[in-house]
Amino acid sequence: MVVEGSAVSQNILNRFCSASQPTIKRCLAAALLFGVVSMVILSYYVSNNQWHSVIREPPQPSFRCHSHNKRLIKSNISATNIHTASGKLRFDPKVLVFMETQYSRLGKHICEVLEASRIKYKVEVAGKSLPLLTNHDKGKYAVIVFENYEKYLSMNKWNRGLLDKYCVEYSVGIIGFVPSKEETFVGAQLKGFPLFISTNLKLKDYYLNPSSSILRLTRAGEVHFGALPAGDWTIFKTNDSSYEALAWARPQHFVPISSEDVSPFLPVIVQDHGLFDGIHRVLFGNGFKFWLHKLLFLDSVSFLSHGKLSFPLRRYLLIDIDDIFVGEKGTRMKPADVQALLQAQERISSIVPGFHFNLGFSGKHYHRGTEEENEGDDELLENAVSFWWFPHMWGHTKPHLFNNISYLEDNMNRNYQFAKEHGIPTDSGYSVAPHHSGVYPVHEQLYEAWKRVWNIRVTSTEEYPHLHPSRFRRGFIHRNIMVLPRQTCGLYTHNLFMERYPGGAARLESSIRGGDLFYQFVFNPINVFMTHLSNYGNDRLALYTFESVIKFLQCWTNLQLSTLPPLQLAEKYFQMFPEESNPVWVNPCLDKRHLAIWSSKKSCDQLPKFLVIGPQKTGTTALYTFLSMHPTIVSNYPSAETFEEVQFFNGKNYFKGLDWYMSFFPVPINSTGNYLFEKSATYFDGDLVPLRAHALLPHAKLVTIMISPIRRAYSWYQHMRAHKDTTALKYEFYEVVTANDKAPKNLRDLRNRCLNPGLYAQHLERWLTFYPPSQLMIIDGEELKADPVAVMNKFQQFLKITPFVDFTNHLRYDPQKGFYCQVTQQNSTKCLGRNKGRHYPPIDLLAQKFLKIFYLSSNIALSKLLTRLRLPIPQWLEDDLS
Ligand code: A3P
Repeated sequence: MVVEGSAVSQNILNRFCSASQPTIKRCLAAALLFGVVSMVILSYYVSNNQWHSVIREPPQPSFRCHSHNKRLIKSNISATNIHTASGKLRFDPKVLVFMETQYSRLGKHICEVLEASRIKYKVEVAGKSLPLLTNHDKGKYAVIVFENYEKYLSMNKWNRGLLDKYCVEYSVGIIGFVPSKEETFVGAQLKGFPLFISTNLKLKDYYLNPSSSILRLTRAGEVHFGALPAGDWTIFKTNDSSYEALAWARPQHFVPISSEDVSPFLPVIVQDHGLFDGIHRVLFGNGFKFWLHKLLFLDSVSFLSHGKLSFPLRRYLLIDIDDIFVGEKGTRMKPADVQALLQAQERISSIVPGFHFNLGFSGKHYHRGTEEENEGDDELLENAVSFWWFPHMWGHTKPHLFNNISYLEDNMNRNYQFAKEHGIPTDSGYSVAPHHSGVYPVHEQLYEAWKRVWNIRVTSTEEYPHLHPSRFRRGFIHRNIMVLPRQTCGLYTHNLFMERYPGGAARLESSIRGGDLFYQFVFNPINVFMTHLSNYGNDRLALYTFESVIKFLQCWTNLQLSTLPPLQLAEKYFQMFPEESNPVWVNPCLDKRHLAIWSSKKSCDQLPKFLVIGPQKTGTTALYTFLSMHPTIVSNYPSAETFEEVQFFNGKNYFKGLDWYMSFFPVPINSTGNYLFEKSATYFDGDLVPLRAHALLPHAKLVTIMISPIRRAYSWYQHMRAHKDTTALKYEFYEVVTANDKAPKNLRDLRNRCLNPGLYAQHLERWLTFYPPSQLMIIDGEELKADPVAVMNKFQQFLKITPFVDFTNHLRYDPQKGFYCQVTQQNSTKCLGRNKGRHYPPIDLLAQKFLKIFYLSSNIALSKLLTRLRLPIPQWLEDDLS
């Protein structure tokens, strides 16, 4: 039609202008008319979005494997290598990466590949001293990587000797990248080895050695034809039988001298079998500019670590099509698109057994397209049994916008009814929220409504912990709903046509052929992809993309593609990564995307600005009480469960989520008003607390109080006796603190609670790995007792809080209590309750002596730490160390 319409207007133009002696005026008028007619026709098609669908067919996957070309390979494709060692290995599954500088590019890429593959690593800048390689006769690293192999070759003799000895003794291999130089080398010898290099070469056509025992992820037999990126390749030459090529390439410019001359195969990666010095190595003649090198690097890591750093080859794939029925008129699926979807599903399932597209529907938008698109909707429903289904929201609304749970329930119920009426299965247990809203940051109402209406057990998001960088996306479980990480394939709602793909078709192509999309499959054992309805209409880009990448994976890798329904997939995920089950709540206000999908009723001003972290029995209640007297400092509401303290960051409360935590704080009137704080004395020694607190409150200030750990231990013991704890009543203090590990559990537990919090240095160091010292204030508990006014002054300075309050008239020593107490309006004193500042017999000397020795090394570490932080050494510490 468009072509016809244009032809009509062209005819008019021709007639006017080809008439005998056309005047310029007539010609101009004709041209104007032509323009107007063309514009009208064009705008008609553009407004109906039919332009492209009329004039073109969607692109078809055209990828072909070359591996059938047997001429190019020496032997048949070898079976997948299993990298295992016969002997017992004595090293940790960790990689040591020597980077050239802290910021060098290839080094950063190496780390990124390791991170994406979840391989642990440590970075050292080459040239500095060698890190400790062993720990109690166990190697700390399985593979050593040199971003620049030169740095290995030029290491000083002593360090080089140590490193080589470590590699030989622990069967640890080395990967080195041999860079090009400014000066071009031809046949230069690598210092100390019978291996020669030529540098700065331009190469083409990349061949793998099919008989190499390194290939595991990488499938032998395929050839990459064409020029290789960058003109700085290094090639290797040797006659020594210790070396074997893993890959070859050919020179880009080869001039044969005689007709028999053929372009040579030049080794670009060589494997050193260690015949020369007992060390296995893999040397790369270029970095990661060539796409295949990341894969070969992972294979080398797997090989050199004797399989300790290799991962299963199975990859699970789930392709969600969000927003079924949603979409602007003219961009939706038509019956032919649905048929194409079914056919593609069948083709994919011949490679990925049992594969089904997973369709997420919003019933409200059913039949809201053009006539043909409405038929497309019906075609989907007629074929409902051929797909997997999951509910989106009824109207594709963002759940976080609704605080009223009954609205969400109602919305979901309508979608549920729609499913029932149209034969859509309702039992997948999986759902995805539109725009990722409400999944993370968590909107509790969404989780609750999902459970009530759909019995949802699984969802997925790209937002946990953050969208970028995608290699760090993880899963978590909240309220028994498993949240899977989701991957993006680069297709969004507005990507309708190949040539309008951002960056052009070539960009999509390179993502498929060894780029981002390809590596998502390599790195992630479980891939849940997000696509949209519009990606299956129009150019059907999603079909093109997935069929192409699956084919490409088949050609180049030994990955075995599988699929599972969402519920089983999620169970598999958390079996693989059980450590991810527990979430870490990150501050929603520090991520723009999170903020955009967080209820406007919530505000980070409803979170504390400082934390009194304990430990218990050091005077935390007194400090808490004095702070609460300040007009702008506001504490949390008391918790009935945990004796006033919220105790969020340690223990089970953390799993109640951020909304639960925030409910303990008043809604702020404005961000500069109240200075919220929370005191939970158990935070100090909780293993996970610094990490969790920092994730949520990275800018918070921290306050800890310290008294002699001996006195603290005794105070805790007395506290437990006062609470009629049977163990504390049964055993003397000395018996408790000297109990050994064979003692009854209740006694060991009491001993631990007496002793562990007092290992101050160890706990402080943990906090200081997350928070800078400038955010931490350490209060001497003895000073708090003897001169609380001075402490409150220092504390206000530390917080930089206004107004500054002079506590002189607000606190008074109460001789009866033996402590400072609040001065009431009636000028009497209000002291802390009977359980604070108790009267009990002095600590027995034997226990004191024992504890002085017990805490000695910890106290020495504390005094060093305080000196490092330029803080004064309290008198009690000097006494304990004397
Ligand atoms: P004792 O009861 O063993 O003397 P916490 O509140 O962290 O549990 O600490 C309780 C300790 O705070 C008390 O331990 C007491 O020594 C100390 N403390 C400090 N200043 C106090 C005050 N003004 N009133 C009561 N106790 C105070």
